[in-house]
Amino acid sequence: MNELDAMVDSARAGFAQAATPADLENAKAQYLGKSGRITELMKGMAALPVEEKKTRGAAINVAKQAIEAALNARRQALADAELETQLKAEALDVSLPGRQRGPGGLHPVSLTLERIEAIFSSQGFEVAEGPEIESDWFNFTALNTPEDHPARSMHDTFYVEGGSDKAPNLLRTHTSPMQIRHAVQHVKRYRAALDAGLPMPEIRVIAPGRTYRVDSDATHSPMFHQCEGLWIGENVSFKDLKVVFTDFCRTFFESDDLVLRFRPSFFPFTEPSAEIDIQFQSGPLAGRWLEVAGSGEVHPNVVRNMGLDPERYIGFAFGMGPDRLTMLRYGVNDLRLFFDGDIRFLSQFR
Ligand code: DAH
Repeated sequence: MNELDAMVDSARAGFAQAATPADLENAKAQYLGKSGRITELMKGMAALPVEEKKTRGAAINVAKQAIEAALNARRQALADAELETQLKAEALDVSLPGRQRGPGGLHPVSLTLERIEAIFSSQGFEVAEGPEIESDWFNFTALNTPEDHPARSMHDTFYVEGGSDKAPNLLRTHTSPMQIRHAVQHVKRYRAALDAGLPMPEIRVIAPGRTYRVDSDATHSPMFHQCEGLWIGENVSFKDLKVVFTDFCRTFFESDDLVLRFRPSFFPFTEPSAEIDIQFQSGPLAGRWLEVAGSGEVHPNVVRNMGLDPERYIGFAFGMGPDRLTMLRYGVNDLRLFFDGDIRFLSQFR
């Protein structure tokens, strides 16, 4: 074997040993680089006589082409191998089970609100919604709540921009403003009948929604829910409140084994007023009185602010806490769980 053939062989062996494209480029430099062996051989030809130059040059060229061919073949082989590993790494195992997207579900408090709406709808109540940013008038004044009432304090209420300096707007502290808003609309609709001395269809409405107070612990959240109820007519009495609310509680908790207590209380917008407590006769909560709502006969001043004559129209109102009802129904002991957004908790109500 002549020295050129030996050089081609050693180049092939060097290229074959290169495991990466970078190794290969280093190996190439030894033969084809600026001071590589081929380049050196070319330089060495300068000293040869013309006749020998021809044959020598041709032989070196043959060797050079053989080395270049080997180099290109190895480059291709390395590129193919790299593609192969990449494809393997990215391979999809189509036999793996798909990633599950659990079916969504309503929030437990939403379930309660739906339940409340369904029960009262079946008793002939409308469902009304109102704004969460309220004016001082609807939230307090129209509800017979005097200017020095503690509920108006900065500590209890989130005041927001808008309204006047003396009576700024606020995040409603209860759903009771909906009593006025809804009644005023209702009265407007039947104004002509009222003016003609004809009877007005009764106001029978519930108003569920979000309410806000500066309050936060295991049983209070700055944002919470309330559901207002209002029934106004010419012959609506406290007895009707008892019937309606007892019916509601028994349907809501799916238990006839449940008694109610109307405990005297005070609210500016009702007179007389009562807290409604319930007691289960069996089950885990049996024997304890549990407060579920405030209620009362709508105060004459409030009836007047609805645009009605309190000598003629009378009725009751109540306000309950759907969050608390949800806690009682499902046995949840910390209100904050409802608002943490933890899927492990929430998925239990699907
Ligand atoms: N608005 C009252 C509160 O947030 C609850 C309430 C009490 C509503 C008596 C009523 C009612 O409609 O008659 O504490």
